[in-house]
Amino acid sequence: MIITPDFGTQSTSIYEKIEQDLVNSGISITHDALPMSTIAPLLARIASLPDHEFNEAGTGRKQDHQINQFVRRDQIHWLDSQHPDESLWLQWMTGLQTHLNRTLMLGLFSYESHFAQYKPGAFYKKHLDAFKGQANRRLSTVLYLNPNWQPQYGGELVVYEPENEQQELLRVTPSFGTLVVFLSEDFPHEVLPAEQLRYSIAGWYRVNNSIGNRIDPPR
Ligand code: OGA
Ligand code: MN
Repeated sequence: MIITPDFGTQSTSIYEKIEQDLVNSGISITHDALPMSTIAPLLARIASLPDHEFNEAGTGRKQDHQINQFVRRDQIHWLDSQHPDESLWLQWMTGLQTHLNRTLMLGLFSYESHFAQYKPGAFYKKHLDAFKGQANRRLSTVLYLNPNWQPQYGGELVVYEPENEQQELLRVTPSFGTLVVFLSEDFPHEVLPAEQLRYSIAGWYRVNNSIGNRIDPPR
């Protein structure tokens, strides 16, 4: 039997808000989206992870360390549902997946996410999380875990227009508890260099692109 946690009616109304935002504009920004009892342990967890538990993030071309370093400098640690605090987050995101599949028929099949730390000076240059027709990432999510983030620290997420990647659409301050959800194939985005250590959880909902008997691998 699968026991799904009851996040209550509050999370249902947040799920509905995200759904409406996605219908209206393809991108959703919510402050204080998740209960403090879910996100406080996530901050404690990422802050307690020793450096050797983080990996240099790649860009798909794993061999080419220099290209990767030019594009992105964050360090990542994949979440695991076996860890109780990480599991709460994954369960909340599964609740969103179920809601969006039911209301928008998105056919989201799986969700994967990683902690990311950006050390001072780290960035992630403008990119798409998925290329149209090729990849199977449909929705991108980012949760920020930085209490008391100040404007002078930088580190904003800059999102560009879907049809014009030179045109800035909006900026998001990576403040504790802010959740961003957007269509992976549509929005170019970048992370500006931060002057302080910057924590987030980046994640993606995938659709299933199984070929033959081979179930689409999650990563
Ligand atoms: C990513 C990403 C944005 C952020 O990991 O693909 O774009 O604000 N992250 O951390
Ligand atoms: Mn991205």
